[in-house]
Amino acid sequence: MGKKAIEEIEDLRAKIRYHDKKYYVENMPEITDYEYDQLMKELEKLERAYPQLITPDSPTQRVSGEPVLSFTSVEHRIPMLSIENTYSEEELKEFDRRIRRMLKHARQNDSSVPARAGNVGLVDEIEYVVELKIDGVAITLWYEKGIFIRGATRGDGFKGDDVTANLRTVKNIPLRFLCTDNKSMPSVLEIRGEIYLPNKEFQRLNREREEADEPQFANPRNAAAGSLKLLDSHITAKRNLRLFAYAFGYYEDDKFASHIECLEAAKEFGFPVNPYYKLCTNMDEVISYCNSWENKRKNLDYQVDGMVVKVNSLKLHDELGSTSKAPRWVMSYKYHPEEAITRIEAIKIQVGKTGTLTPVAELSSVQLSGTTVSRATLHNFDEIERKDIRIGDYVVVQKAGEIIPQVVRVIKEKRKGNEKPFNLPKRCPVCKSDVLKEEVYLRCYNPLCTAQAKRRVMYFASRNAMDIEGFGPALIEQLIDKNIIEDYADIYSLRFDDIESLERMGEKSARNLLNAIEKSKDIDLHRLICALGIQHVGSHAAEVLSGHFGTLDKLAGASVEELEEIYEIGSVMARSIVKFFSNSHTRKVVSKLKSAGINTKATNKKLRPVSNIAKKSFVITGTLNGYTRKEIEDVIKNLGGKVSSTVSNKTDFLVVGESPGSKLERAKELGITILNKEEFENLIKKSN
Ligand code: IVH
Repeated sequence: MGKKAIEEIEDLRAKIRYHDKKYYVENMPEITDYEYDQLMKELEKLERAYPQLITPDSPTQRVSGEPVLSFTSVEHRIPMLSIENTYSEEELKEFDRRIRRMLKHARQNDSSVPARAGNVGLVDEIEYVVELKIDGVAITLWYEKGIFIRGATRGDGFKGDDVTANLRTVKNIPLRFLCTDNKSMPSVLEIRGEIYLPNKEFQRLNREREEADEPQFANPRNAAAGSLKLLDSHITAKRNLRLFAYAFGYYEDDKFASHIECLEAAKEFGFPVNPYYKLCTNMDEVISYCNSWENKRKNLDYQVDGMVVKVNSLKLHDELGSTSKAPRWVMSYKYHPEEAITRIEAIKIQVGKTGTLTPVAELSSVQLSGTTVSRATLHNFDEIERKDIRIGDYVVVQKAGEIIPQVVRVIKEKRKGNEKPFNLPKRCPVCKSDVLKEEVYLRCYNPLCTAQAKRRVMYFASRNAMDIEGFGPALIEQLIDKNIIEDYADIYSLRFDDIESLERMGEKSARNLLNAIEKSKDIDLHRLICALGIQHVGSHAAEVLSGHFGTLDKLAGASVEELEEIYEIGSVMARSIVKFFSNSHTRKVVSKLKSAGINTKATNKKLRPVSNIAKKSFVITGTLNGYTRKEIEDVIKNLGGKVSSTVSNKTDFLVVGESPGSKLERAKELGITILNKEEFENLIKKSN
């Protein structure tokens, strides 16, 4: 290995860090995404050639390692206190008066502070920094000599969860920060900030979860918190979380005199600081800046639930100190969540692509956070009962994370007595077949239900699935209502005459559509798997399945056990897949797709990492303190191992927890290697 390689690698890393800062912090990229990707690729290539030169702070090392079984707890060097909240301007003014009173009092009683005129003057001139209050999750990041060492959640304020692996995947968190002048590089620096999920990412994530018939996140904050607490950082990496740094925690020298200087230094180091902070010289200015953001914040791509007002001088922070709960130099001014009152005109039922019935409230139109709202999701039927929602009720509606309208509560005082309770449907509103209850959901099981068929075809053609341009809902409604198609496979036998005469179609659009249909035949296997609309299988699971099986036939022939062995495929999904491919109706549809000449082979079969326990078979018995069964199974599967439920002579390891069952005896009889919790943990560590 020549000196040249080391230099080249370090040079590339420095370039990438420089461009990260330009892109994420200064919002002024100097190169295109393509050029940036080329730098990354070059670095990856060199690191592959010289793996001994890979360091954890390399820009290529954001996602690595295997899932953890649980998070360890870390104590905060300085507690992460909360901040006092208010919704009123008057209380903000009182906050300013209180600070002045306290400072004056402290100085009068403190003989060490010389009674010079300047002191009173200082109290008169309190500067405040006003920042946006980002609605996400508070975190702390610990750096030593500029290198990211550890990151944790706030937890109870004294101890939080070590979520370092997940935080490393957040692209605008520097893994090593920059310091132009090496002498001023702090040996230790703690950065505090907020992790958030941009609105667009939140919407994308919820769309994916909807596709997979998985519960959606109620708002971007919950989605960010959930993503940060995932045990597998590979999944967190896909969530596109972001950071805004808003303060220093612990640092080893005190060369900064003001909060503004800290923010500027953080930016200089390459941390993303929200650009909309402002230095204000009096409370009136603070209040008017706070109010100026009440509406403007809605144009941002992240959630802002208020403003944070901080005393600028760090000396004053020390003088003011903290109560047991919150520092006295900071206060947040929160915006009232926007609510509106309206009437429920009707409760309609939507039928999803797998037959799930979802109630939707139809509302008298009302203005809410800048849009007209006339429908609100009710999630499921239990929610109607829990909130006692009746047709004709006046209700409070709110946008969850200012995005999805929801019914918050019923205004019972407004009831006149003629409101109608909602009766659970016994039949599908479209095909009239009986519905059955499955947990909190009601479901129509008729595979020929036209409502389901329409949804399935819409989904099949949608952008995330087969991406057939121009094949929209209006067209699909007509094709199914006129019995031209029954299912999505029939799309491929559509002829020009079938569609040209339909409403809103013409010769040109009909031709374009046929071309788009033809083109979709070559799409990647994972998109086809996703497009099939198998319950619980969204685009991510489809990628996993395509990578594992490589062909549709192999997937269709897989057993529940085989599927369960795949990392990220749980038993619910496994059963759903087997059910799908064993149903005679869906089998017919799939074979029609194949005869239409659709591509059913993966182009790039992903290879699974090889580890110590790859292909080894595990059985688990008893409970392992601190871990759920699912967590243990996931770790084994991700390392390429298999988990089965019965001990046989094919079993390689039996993992034994507390109160083991009869499996232990059986394993002893067969002479199978038995691992207790520690031995199991050691094996996993060695395999990582
Ligand atoms: S300062 C001791 N600044 O709001 C001061 N907090 O409700 C620490 N937050 O726990 C907080 N944006 O998670 C500060 N610009 C900002 C903020 C901010 C969001 C969060 C933070 C805090 C919570 C308090």
